Amino acid sequence: MYINRTRIWRAIFCKTEITGEAMKILAIESSCDETAAAVIEDGRTILSSVVDTQIETHALYGGVVPEIASRRHMEAVVRVTQKALADANMDKHEVDAVAATCAPGLIGALLVGANFGKALAFSLNKPFIPVHHIRGHIAAAYLAYPDLKPPFLTLIASGGHSEIVMVRDYTSFEILGGTRDDAAGEAFDKVARVLGVGYPGGPKIDKLAQDGDPARYKLPDSHIKDAPLDFSFSGLKTAVINLAHNAEQKGETIDRNGLAASFCAAVVQTLVPRLEMAVKQTHTQRVVCAGGVAANSFLRAALQDMAKRTHTRLYLPPLSLCGDNAAMIGSQAYYEYLAGNVGCTLQNAFATAEIGENICEKR
Ligand code: KG4
Ligand code: ZN
Repeated sequence: MYINRTRIWRAIFCKTEITGEAMKILAIESSCDETAAAVIEDGRTILSSVVDTQIETHALYGGVVPEIASRRHMEAVVRVTQKALADANMDKHEVDAVAATCAPGLIGALLVGANFGKALAFSLNKPFIPVHHIRGHIAAAYLAYPDLKPPFLTLIASGGHSEIVMVRDYTSFEILGGTRDDAAGEAFDKVARVLGVGYPGGPKIDKLAQDGDPARYKLPDSHIKDAPLDFSFSGLKTAVINLAHNAEQKGETIDRNGLAASFCAAVVQTLVPRLEMAVKQTHTQRVVCAGGVAANSFLRAALQDMAKRTHTRLYLPPLSLCGDNAAMIGSQAYYEYLAGNVGCTLQNAFATAEIGENICEKR
C-alpha cells in the first residue's frame, strides 16, 4: 500500500491512523443564503458538491433577510448533506472528518451549519474542523488548479469582503489592503436595486453591462490618503444613486446598460490597479481571484490583461466555484486539519473574524 509523506505527517500531528486511503472530508456551508454540502478528497478532489440556494426567497425582499435565511438552512441542511453523501456514493460512517463554515457571516445562518456539522462529527466520533469562509473562497482555486500552492497574492471580492491578501501558507494570511466601507458585491447589489433589476445584483448588472458603453457616465474613483492599497466603494455607490434620482426628478430616462457598464468599469478601475501595485510590491509570480464578484466578466478580462502585463500566472476559479459552495470549505478544511486546527465540542461561530484570525477553539 502506498503511503505518502503527507499522510505520515498528518498521522503524527493529528494522532490519526496511518492509512493509504485519501482523507475524505464532509463539508457544510451556511454563512449566507446558500445551504451547501460537499465531500472533498485530500483537499483537492470534489467527490460531490450540492448547493441549495435561497435566492428566490430573498429576491422577494430585495436582499437577504437573516431570520429567513436561518430557517431555510434548518430546513435544508439534512437533505443537502444526505445528497452530498449519496452523490459521493458514501455512507456517513465513511467520512474521515466533518467541516463547517464557522465565520464570518450571518450569525444565525452560521450557527445552523456549524452546530449541525459539530453534532454530526461528534456523533460519528470524527474530528470537527471549523473553517473561515474567506479562507474557503481562496481554497476554491486549489480545487480548480491542482498545481497551485502558496505563496500567492489574492484579490478577494465577495458580497461581504474586498481585500488584497498575501497567502503565505495554507493557514497563514496577510492583508495588504482592502475596502474601508462597502464590499464590491454589496455595491453591485445596491446599484442593482437602484436600477430595479433585483437581487442578487452582480450577475444582472454584468449582463446589462454587456450592451452598454463603459464611458457613458463618469463615476468617481476612491483614494485613501497614505494607504494606496486601500479603497472605498461607498462614494461610487452614492454617485450611482444620485445619478438615478436626479434623472428621475428631471423626468429623464437613464441609460441602464450604459450605467451598468460604467459601474463595472469603475469597480474594475478600483480593484485592478491596486492589485497590480501589490503584485509589483510583493514580486509575486502567482495571482488568485476569489469570491462571488470574481465571476464578473469585466473583472475577469481585466485580470487576464493585468497578468499579461505583469508576467504573472492568473488563477481564476470557474464560475461554479466563485459563489458560495461547500467544496471550497472542504478543501480549506483539509489544510486546517493538517495544521492541527480541530475544534472541540465548545466550538462557536462568529459573525466577524479577520482572515488571519484562527477561529478554531481547541480543548
Ligand atoms: O462570495 P459570495 O457568493 O458571497 C459572499 O461571501 O458574500 O458573493 C456574493 C456576491 C453578491 O454580492 C453578488 O451580487 C456578487 O457576488 N456577484 C457578482 C457576480 N456574480 C455574483 N458581482 C459582479 N458580477 C457578477 N457576475
Ligand atoms: Zn462567500
